[in-house]
Amino acid sequence: MTTKKRVAVLISGRGSNMTSLIEAARASDYPAQISLVVSNRPEAGGLERARAEGIEAVCVDHRAFADRENFEREIDRKLRHAAIEVVCLAGFMRVLTPWFVTRWVGRMINIHPSLLPLFRGVRTHRQALDAGVRVHGCTVHFVLPELDAGPIIAQACVPVHPGDGEDDLAARVLVEEHRIYPPALASVAAGEAVLEDGRCVFHVSPRG
Ligand code: GRF
Repeated sequence: MTTKKRVAVLISGRGSNMTSLIEAARASDYPAQISLVVSNRPEAGGLERARAEGIEAVCVDHRAFADRENFEREIDRKLRHAAIEVVCLAGFMRVLTPWFVTRWVGRMINIHPSLLPLFRGVRTHRQALDAGVRVHGCTVHFVLPELDAGPIIAQACVPVHPGDGEDDLAARVLVEEHRIYPPALASVAAGEAVLEDGRCVFHVSPRG
């Protein structure tokens, strides 16, 4: 068994995706360990949740920094101090600059609540309802400088039912987010899914 990759999860809120990664990482054969949680908001519920699991969880409050670059430099410093090898964005609501993304490219992944390349940005469930799609879903992807545009590692879809509102869709998609993020991280951490020439290449079949 090779050593587990040291993973940081970046959050802004309740951290239910973070929790799904923490729970998956308890398995002895899981190729990653959640070593650090960083929130840009002090009130993020995920911080307490992570601490309850014995995981170091810190706040880097973006409002305390003069600009985005200094905010990101502090996050980067914390990641390096903790010897982080892979970064998972999980409901992290700050757009990252090309400077930060470039430093972590190929080693940073995100979960987005839509079937990319459809519905980038925010309010994806509203966007799906407005578009009238009959299926919706979520995507785990490598992070590139362009927002929500990175190569796809995993996706899952859910039906859109007549009469659905944003909350109905969000709840249905979230179940799938929790299901697909852990195996996607495992594929990346184990070196099975790799960012190559701007695409996600699987050297071993996708997990999950
Ligand atoms: C998830 O839907 C995620 O895809 C989106 O924000 C939400 C975060 O939820 N980017 P949680 O904090 O993981 O519970």
